Amino acid sequence: MPNFIDLKDLSKDQLLDIISLSIKWKNQEHSKFMTDKHVVLIFEKPSLRTRISFEVGINQLGGMTYLLNEKEMQLGERETIEDTARVLERYADMVVIRCFGHDQIKKFSKVSNLPVINALTDFSHPCQVVADLVTIKEHLGDLKNKKIAWFGDCNNVLQSWIEASVILDFELNIGCPKGIIPNLNTISWANKINKKIKINHNPLQVSEGADCVITDTWQSMGDEGSVSEEIYLPFQVNKNIMRQAKDNAIFMHCLPAYRDKEVSSEVLEGKQSVVFDEAENRLHAQKAIMHFCLNSN
Ligand code: CP
Repeated sequence: MPNFIDLKDLSKDQLLDIISLSIKWKNQEHSKFMTDKHVVLIFEKPSLRTRISFEVGINQLGGMTYLLNEKEMQLGERETIEDTARVLERYADMVVIRCFGHDQIKKFSKVSNLPVINALTDFSHPCQVVADLVTIKEHLGDLKNKKIAWFGDCNNVLQSWIEASVILDFELNIGCPKGIIPNLNTISWANKINKKIKINHNPLQVSEGADCVITDTWQSMGDEGSVSEEIYLPFQVNKNIMRQAKDNAIFMHCLPAYRDKEVSSEVLEGKQSVVFDEAENRLHAQKAIMHFCLNSN
């Protein structure tokens, strides 16, 4: 059974198939391929979109969900992660995990005979980026030759964007303050394969000619207060940033958003913003991801 831990584990065809299936199932009836499947959701961190879109999606596909929230489960606390994995495989058919350490989910998936889906770790957020790629395809067509501009923090969502850019070979401009840089191992890996990833500390240059402008909260869950927000101020996505992008450019944010911090209210509520389509697409993307995990050989 394949896992869905990081986008870089997928081939280009696998990722494109997941995107196509997400769009197909958004627009037409799908089989209830999860009938009688039991899915355990381990959420060590709060969630609105990820948790509810997984629960609704699994129920729509005929399956059943069992939630372990942060009060009930901190991986590795009451027993080893390996023991938790070996117990759950006696009951369930799939495990969805949102946890802090990426090594925890890797450890879990290494011993588990069940498919494991990454619902966010401190390192990456691949389900989010599949939904984002679906949203771009819906609004702008093929991802080929598209230019994506990322603003602000170099966080787990950006990590998955970098991996997507390498696999699908599109341009990714990263606009971030000096001293805030993406994971160095990732950049070194990416640069060996794809020369289309650029880091730029001049915000107005980052969105020049972009098809899609993206930002995220400046301080991710667990990182609050670690860096002064002032350093991010020039990287707020506002009308000056959007003016540099193409006229038909879209604005995306994985939400939750902090209005007039990482994005101005005007842009978030403006006609280029597709943030609620993006949130809806979590549901469709995750159905295709679960199909990949349960039906690939
Ligand atoms: N974007 C995202 O993952 O939202 P939640 O934290 O609400 O799941």
